[in-house]
Amino acid sequence: MRKSSFAAAAAILVAGTVFAGCGAAGGTLIGIAMPETHVMRWIKDGASLKKFAEARGFRAQDQYANADQNMQNTQIQNFLTQGAKAIVVGCVNDGVAAAVADAARDKVTVIAYDRIIPESADYDYYITFNNFKVGQLQGQGIEKGLDLKSATAAAPKYITLFAGSPTDGNAFFFYDGAMSALNPYVESGALIVVGPYPKTSKDTANFQRIATENWQASVAKTRMENLLNGDAKDVTLDAVLAPNDTLARAIIEACKADAKYANKLPVVTGQDAEAASTASIKNGEQYMTVFKDTTKLAEAAIILAESAVKGTTPNIPGAVLASSIGLESIGDTGKKVVKAYLLDPVIIYRENWSDPVNAGFYTQEEIAQNNLK
Ligand code: BGC
Repeated sequence: MRKSSFAAAAAILVAGTVFAGCGAAGGTLIGIAMPETHVMRWIKDGASLKKFAEARGFRAQDQYANADQNMQNTQIQNFLTQGAKAIVVGCVNDGVAAAVADAARDKVTVIAYDRIIPESADYDYYITFNNFKVGQLQGQGIEKGLDLKSATAAAPKYITLFAGSPTDGNAFFFYDGAMSALNPYVESGALIVVGPYPKTSKDTANFQRIATENWQASVAKTRMENLLNGDAKDVTLDAVLAPNDTLARAIIEACKADAKYANKLPVVTGQDAEAASTASIKNGEQYMTVFKDTTKLAEAAIILAESAVKGTTPNIPGAVLASSIGLESIGDTGKKVVKAYLLDPVIIYRENWSDPVNAGFYTQEEIAQNNLK
C-alpha cells in the first residue's frame, strides 16, 4: 500500500513549489484518522479538523475506524498512498504503531490527537487536554456533590467506580486524577467504595475489573446492573465515578431501572459535555461533566500539523507544554517522550450548564434536539 518513490518525489516537488511560491498549503493532503463514532465527540472532532485544515488551504479527508485498529491502520495506509504530508491520529490502541512507523518511513508527520500513540518512537507531537486534571475535576465534582468535606466515618457515603478503556492511555490519567481527589476520603472512612477499589491505575488487576473495554456503553450498563444486584444490593449508592458522558448515561439508565433510585439518582460524573449529557445535567439527572473544547483542540492540531510540514515553530493559543508544568509523563509513549501540548478542561455543573453553548460548542441542530436554549 505504500506509495511509490515516484509519487513521493512528485508530492514533495508539488508541496515544495507551493510553499516556495506563496506560503499557503496549496492543496497538500492532511489525513484525519479518528477512532470511533459510538462516542459522539469524535464525529465532531473529525469535522472540525477537516474544517480547520481546509481553512488553512489544505485538502483534508476524515476517516473513522469503528474502534477497530486494523481498520484504522488501513485508513492510515490509504492516506500514505494518496501522498498525505501529515496525519492526525486519534488512535484505537497500541496496534497503530505499525502504521505510524510506515508514515515515518515516508517522512509524513504524525500528530497524536487527544490519545497518546503508545509504544512508538516514530512521531514527535501530541496534542491533548490536561487529562489528569480532567480526572481531578471529576473527583472534585463528587467531593462537592456528596459534600465530602463534612462527611464522617460515622455517617459515610457510598461510591462505586468505573474507568475507561484499558486500551486508551487517557483512561489511566482520568482515573488517577479522580482518585487523587477521592482517596483521602476513602482513607478517613468518610467514603466507602462498593465493588473493586484500585487505589490507582497501577493496581492493574483491580483496574481491569472496573475498566470499560473500548468505552462501550453496553459494557458499562451491564456492569452497573450487575453491581446493583450484587455488591451494591444492600447499600444505597451516593455516587458513581463515570469516566465519560456516554458511559454516565448508560449507568444512569441502569440506576433508573432500580426502584431504589426512582426518586434520587446517585451523583454521576462525566466528561465531554456531550449535548445529551448537558441536557441531562440541565434536567438534574447527570451531576456534572468536563467540558473539553475539542473545537480548540482540532484547531491546535492543524496549527501543529501545518508548522511541522512547513518546518516552523507552532504558536498554539491556550496550550501549555506538558513539560512546563511537570506533566511530561503525559507525552511518554513507553519508547520516547514526545512534545505534548495541553489544553485546559472546564468543570460543568447544573448552574453553568450553558458554558459550552456560550462557547459555540454545539451546532444549532444539537441545541434544538436537546432543548439546550
Ligand atoms: C477521550 C474522551 C472520550 C473517550 C471515549 C478518550 O480518549 O479523551 O474524550 O470520551 O476517549 O471515546
